[in-house]
Amino acid sequence: MKKFFEKYNQSTSEYGDRWNAYLKSIETFVCANIPKKKSEVVVLGFGNGNDIPLECISKFNNNILATDIDIKSMSNKKYDENTNIRFVQMDYLSLDFINIDLSNLSQREIVKIIEGIEFDIPHELEFTKFDIILVAPIFSQIFYYSYLDFLVKQNVPITIEIQSALMKKTSEALAHLVKVIKYIGKENSNYFIWQDLLEDKFMYDLLNAEKIILEYTKRYGLSPSIFGVQLLKDELILVDEIYLNWNFNENRNMLVELMYLKKGKTLL
Ligand SMILES: C[S@@+](CC[C@H](N)C(=O)[O-])C[C@H]1O[C@@H](n2cnc3c(N)ncnc32)[C@H](O)[C@@H]1O
Repeated sequence: MKKFFEKYNQSTSEYGDRWNAYLKSIETFVCANIPKKKSEVVVLGFGNGNDIPLECISKFNNNILATDIDIKSMSNKKYDENTNIRFVQMDYLSLDFINIDLSNLSQREIVKIIEGIEFDIPHELEFTKFDIILVAPIFSQIFYYSYLDFLVKQNVPITIEIQSALMKKTSEALAHLVKVIKYIGKENSNYFIWQDLLEDKFMYDLLNAEKIILEYTKRYGLSPSIFGVQLLKDELILVDEIYLNWNFNENRNMLVELMYLKKGKTLL
């Protein structure tokens, strides 16, 4: 799985000018809402670090823990030497140990293996709580494609049964990820979570983003990203949110939801 994401992150390491407006919007939203005092910060899905508003999260002498399954991409980024940042490689699903030879197994046996996969809280996050939690887009990437890639590389024929088992496990992986995100927060922690929801060639009408998502959901059902965001909103309290266009290149544009959430039962 690490290898899968190393390859993916290499393909997104160079951002051109078209990213600036998107990055600026994330920076402005996070800076406006972040606590103005020394804090313990964690970033999930740090990757190449290109969409992480480092300048504002490193103010007030904050300690930053940057995490991702792909340590190589995290080491590419250049930092101000005063940034108090530590990099830790981790899999939020704790699946790194998986290394089974599937070549001689029947389809039924492979489905059983997928069904039997269990997720765990990463050891490094088990005993530490953070004041500020940033989560870059990871719902759309969690489990399904990396595990599919793992099966294809082992020459496993991808049948409907195997796909269906993978989809079910992906829903569990999303629920697990939301559990981890909630678990690492304190009672008053501030969460900044952004997620790509839909992809199109054209820019989205951001004023009508909620309507567009609703129409998409009615027609196609819940995508992993929309499902993950829904789970988040069930578990945390949404304080504010904005929608952004994440314009990859002339043929790819994502609709992104950027949320500010808090833990606890009541607002502030
Ligand atoms: C869309 S990228 C986020 C963008 C990133 N901040 C950047 O600027 O490149 C999602 C990140 O999630 C990481 N990721 C995916 N699945 C993971 C997992 N199970 N555990 C930890 N990180 C994972 C990928 O390696 C990737 O860097």
